[in-house]
Amino acid sequence: MERGAGATPHSPDDGAPTDLTPPGVAHEVFGDRLPLAEQYCAALATAGVERGLIGPREVPRLWDRHILNCAALGELIPIGASVVDIGSGAGLPGIPLGIARPDLRITLVEPLLRRTKFLAEFIESAGLAITVVRGRAEQPDVRKEAGGADYVTSRAVAPLGKLAKWSLPLVREHGHMLALKGSSVAEELERDRMELARAGAGHARILECGIGIVSPPTVVLSVERVPRAEKRANKQATRRAERGR
Ligand SMILES: C[S@@+](CC[C@H](N)C(=O)[O-])C[C@H]1O[C@@H](n2cnc3c(N)ncnc32)[C@H](O)[C@@H]1O
Repeated sequence: MERGAGATPHSPDDGAPTDLTPPGVAHEVFGDRLPLAEQYCAALATAGVERGLIGPREVPRLWDRHILNCAALGELIPIGASVVDIGSGAGLPGIPLGIARPDLRITLVEPLLRRTKFLAEFIESAGLAITVVRGRAEQPDVRKEAGGADYVTSRAVAPLGKLAKWSLPLVREHGHMLALKGSSVAEELERDRMELARAGAGHARILECGIGIVSPPTVVLSVERVPRAEKRANKQATRRAERGR
């Protein structure tokens, strides 16, 4: 990193340095890997802000809104799964997930060099077994390198229809897309229903995780990549429903 974990974290108003002490629940989430999560928090609050990867206003809420909120996603992922996190930016949700769940095989996909450099530097300094692939999720070479995963995750990357089109080709049949979303996810789901069916998404569910860890809990849209025959049937059914409105 350009500045290490010991550097002074930025404060939103350039006043006193922000206290980055983790909340008590962080111990429950990260266990004996909490020092790695603290190292990540410090990196975001220093180099992350300096390099424009995270806004200074986010520093006081790094634990709640970013690190714990993202690590909570682990509740939805079984042991030993492979996970591709697209549009990771400064590593969210992929890095907190990888710290909390060392059993997962995680690949971060991010097109911007400035961001992949930050990711690679942090991963190396923390000794994490996480792979970084530079590129856009929909690129054929990225699909080749990172594809066939059990899960694809994302936060704040694209509207749902486009997100499904980029995400689902990266998972195997019956693999899942887990998208961290806000409270308007139900409307987004309704709006993009046809695009989701076209992308091969089925069995959509809105889930909550991180209950008792973050408030409000993390809202996640889960969809499954359905086999070709089911994809065709879903597209036809969605078209019929749209015509009947
Ligand atoms: C708003 S940022 C969110 C970053 C991070 N997921 C977070 O929640 O803090 C969106 C990220 O998606 C990346 N991105 C945009 N289009 C992409 C694509 N087609 N494939 C992969 N990443 C993409 C951008 O470079 C950027 O880092």
